[in-house]
Amino acid sequence: MNTPTPHSANPWAPPPIRVPEAPQWPRLSPLDKAALIGRIKSLLQEQGALLVAHYYTDGDLQQLAEDTGGCVADSLEMARFGAQSAATTLVVCGVRFMGETAKILNPEKRILMPDLRATCSLDEGCPLELFSAFCDQHPERTVVVYANTSAAVKARSDWVVTSSIALPIVTHLHALGEKILWAPDKHLGHYIERKTGADMLLWPGACVVHEEFKGFALQRLRRLHPEAAVLVHPESPDEVVDQADVVGSTTALIRAVTELPNREFIVATDEGIFWKMHQLAPHKKLIAAPTAGVGATCESCAHCPWMAMNALQNLEEVLATGSNEVQIDPEIGRRAVAPIQRMLDFARAQGPTPSRARVLGG
Ligand code: 13P
Ligand code: SF4
Repeated sequence: MNTPTPHSANPWAPPPIRVPEAPQWPRLSPLDKAALIGRIKSLLQEQGALLVAHYYTDGDLQQLAEDTGGCVADSLEMARFGAQSAATTLVVCGVRFMGETAKILNPEKRILMPDLRATCSLDEGCPLELFSAFCDQHPERTVVVYANTSAAVKARSDWVVTSSIALPIVTHLHALGEKILWAPDKHLGHYIERKTGADMLLWPGACVVHEEFKGFALQRLRRLHPEAAVLVHPESPDEVVDQADVVGSTTALIRAVTELPNREFIVATDEGIFWKMHQLAPHKKLIAAPTAGVGATCESCAHCPWMAMNALQNLEEVLATGSNEVQIDPEIGRRAVAPIQRMLDFARAQGPTPSRARVLGG
């Protein structure tokens, strides 16, 4: 593997990531929750706003997005929905790169987020100056960045990809004979490198949630559940990916639960995804992949602390006050839109799979 090693002598070592405590939202009584949801629905209607939520957010938010004509999806479909929607305001429930992508694609729309501090360890671990210097050292390589990056890093790239489209895009670039500089997720990058045989230089970033899944503990769990299919998001380490029956984006993992005949699934991704899996396949048993074991630090324990910053309470507040609007420097936005649009055009040329449409249909 062609990876710059992350130690202090390495000039490309990403900065240490400060992982926040996941916020503890006060429990609402059923009556208070219903009243809050009612107020949010009225605010959405008054403002012609739609919710665009990721599968890792709280189930109440996902339900509300579906009930009010918004969408619940993976990062690629969130971007596509935002670009196609006629709504003048989109409220993105997810993390900052998702809100920024919506703003880059729709500069004329108002994009709000429940909490603008909701970032991502991959985004934080790939600061523009360092990344730009890394790119400058390898001018012969095509720069492919994961969507989990800042607008400025996207603006420095040739292609933006999400987990659901990364493999076909790198396959395409490899067929053209292009060498790739990949950032920021080293695990996803290494997975794609192994699948495609492409020449990839990998930035040493990682997701604090998926990095916690442990291969050895997963082996033990599989022995206890020999009939279970193992579903793994490719941001996980190799020793976890190598035990998977299905490796894929959040949408692909949800699709696997609905389409595979197994009655049990071990799931190695953020536990927020269980809400949609339960909704679509209520009779199937879902088991969280283990994060404990040798080398575990459990900073996030299978739930992204930044995704957890989205709640009904702060959603109501941003709709009522108009605060937390996502702003992008117009020049950065202008440069970042081209690599994102390249991905969307590529995805459109591929066409939607029938089962992806079914998952999105809820
Ligand atoms: P998906 O695009 O597969 O939804 O992944 C986004 C993400 O942040 C995973 O950690
Ligand atoms: Fe980023 Fe990981 Fe959270 Fe996804 S789960 S938003 S990759 S920190």
